[in-house]
Formats: sequence, C-alpha cells, structure tokens
Amino acid sequence: MTGRVLVAGGTGRLGTLVVSALAARGAKVRVMTRNPRRASHLAAEHIEVVRGDVRDTASTAAAVADSDVVVSAVHGFAGPGRVTPASVDRDGNITLIEAASAAGADVVLMSVVGAAADSPMELFRMKYAAEAALAASTVPATIVRATAFLELWIDLLRRTAGRSNRPLIFGHGQNPINFVSVRDVAALVERVVTDPATRGQTLEIGGPHDLALNQLARMVAASRGAATAPRHLPPAALRTIAATIGRLRPELGRQVRAALAMDNHNMTHYQDAVRARFAELPCTSAEDILR
Ligand SMILES: NC(=O)c1ccc[n+]([C@@H]2O[C@H](COP(=O)([O-])OP(=O)(O)OC[C@H]3O[C@@H](n4cnc5c(N)ncnc54)[C@H](OP(=O)(O)O)[C@@H]3O)[C@@H](O)[C@H]2O)c1
Repeated sequence: MTGRVLVAGGTGRLGTLVVSALAARGAKVRVMTRNPRRASHLAAEHIEVVRGDVRDTASTAAAVADSDVVVSAVHGFAGPGRVTPASVDRDGNITLIEAASAAGADVVLMSVVGAAADSPMELFRMKYAAEAALAASTVPATIVRATAFLELWIDLLRRTAGRSNRPLIFGHGQNPINFVSVRDVAALVERVVTDPATRGQTLEIGGPHDLALNQLARMVAASRGAATAPRHLPPAALRTIAATIGRLRPELGRQVRAALAMDNHNMTHYQDAVRARFAELPCTSAEDILR
C-alpha cells in the first residue's frame, strides 16, 4: 500500500529522505511547506508541493485533503518563522490530526525517545502532548520516536569547529547520548507509512551506540585530520545565558535549556526491539557518516 501521502516537514532533513523514498516506490507524495522555494530540491514526478503552515487550520486542511496517510515530520524547536514547540509540535500536530481525521487519513507522527509530560525539555513535553492527542483520537496512527539525529549533531560540531578545528560544546559534554542516523529513521518511516499493521503502535529507534558529545567532537575533528579537543561553554555560563539573554531570545533560551538537560539527564537508549522486528533497516554509525 502506498497511495497518496502528505508529508508535513517534507523539506527537512528527515522529510526530504522520506519524500524521495516514497516517490521512488510510486506513492503520490504531497509536500507541505511554508515556503515552496525550500522544496526546490524535491522536484520530481509524483511529488506535488503545496504551501501550508500547521499553525493555520485552513491551509493544513487543504494540504491534507484526499490523502491516505499524513506524515508529520515538523518541529518548532528552532528555525524560521518564530516557531515554538507549543505552536508546532503540540498545537500544529493537533491541527494535522484533526485534518487527517476529517479526511479519513492515517497519521505517522514523528516524536522523540523520552517524550513525557514531565520531561525537562519543552520539546519533549510538546511531542508527548501530540502523542496524547493522537491516542485520544480515532485516527489510525503510528508514532515513531527517534533519538538525536547524528547528521544534525555532526553538522553543528563541524560548523562550530572553525579554523582551530575545535568544535564548541554547550555543557561538559560527558553525558552519553544515543545518536541515530536520519537514514535509519527515514527507512523506518517509509516502512510504517506503507505497513498498516504498525497502526496503533509506538516504535522507538536509536543508533548502534551511545556517545558523549566530547567523543563525537573528537571524531569530527579527526575526520578533518586534527587530533584536537573540543571547546566548552560551561554549565554555569549556560544557566546565566538562560536567565538573561535567553529570556529575550526564546530560541536561544530553548537551545541553552535543552543543552543543560542533554548534559545531565539519561539520554541513552538500549532498546533494539524495532531493529529486531525490521531487520532490513540500515544501521548507520557515526564512522559511516564521517568516512
Ligand atoms: N533532529 C533530531 O535530532 C530529531 C530527533 C528525534 C526526532 N526528530 C523529529 O524528526 C522530525 C524531522 O526533524 P528534522 O531534524 O529532519 O527537521 P528539520 O530538518 O529541522 O525540518 C523541520 C521541518 O519542519 C517544517 N516546519 C516547521 N514549522 C512548520 C510549520 N509551522 N508549518 C509547516 N511546516 C513546518 C519545516 O518546513 P518549511 O520550513 O519548509 O515550512 C521543515 O520541513 C521532527 O518531527 C523532529 O521533531 C528530530
């Protein structure tokens, strides 16, 4: 089963892979974006691009109309358009779920490993609220929870490394974190979109190992031929930023508070039930990406 699939967030890191994979297997894919220019790399047969914002009921309903499956790969943690986790990850997803319900479509919701009502991270609380809204609805749905995307963190470390080749880490960087490749997550999303047997289930996917940010930073530096140690913005400085400039600049405040949480809370992930169940999923390591 492929049919007609609406991908909200289809222009993003994960969404781009999901859209391409679904189109390659013959699905009619519609990409919803606030700015169609951000979808220019997706021009292909079977791919339609429509303008829409999950914070806007009318454009969301129009984008979802006639779909068999709605994939939500949006987030409001950071990015253009004054997005927030409350307006996108909670309320925007609820708008998508209501539109899917009206259209008689299934939903595949991207969430995070660790989503919980009492999480220290606002994003994780808002993802949990969307999961709860989905559970309270009658919409046939699959929730995919992923750990942190390797490619995003490698990019961030590369970008901050500069000429000294010393990536900048927010916090002490010693806490083990599970990272997963976006390629592996996209393969799972492609699978669940086309597999109605996964409806009613929450699937958690992580990567092959837990790494401290200090380890990942050294790997990034080594991949650029340098044996350099990362630089750090210590937790005390992060707390000061959160309490001062972070109040004036909400996105920065969010990033700093999330960094403090990632530096201290359990971010490991040992569950491999999904990989045992879907043996065809790739298992991409940090070394594979850096090679
Ligand atoms: N990154 C991670 O480490 C990670 C880990 C676990 C789970 N996830 C989840 O995986 C999904 C994809 O993440 P990603 O890192 O691939 O995202 P990304 O590259 O940052 O892309 C974000 C996407 O969200 C869309 N978006 C944001 N606000 C929107 C709005 N108001 N209306 C419509 N679209 C909106 C953007 O579309 P336009 O800008 O084109 O409108 C863009 O396509 C998200 O649900 C995220 O929470 C990510």
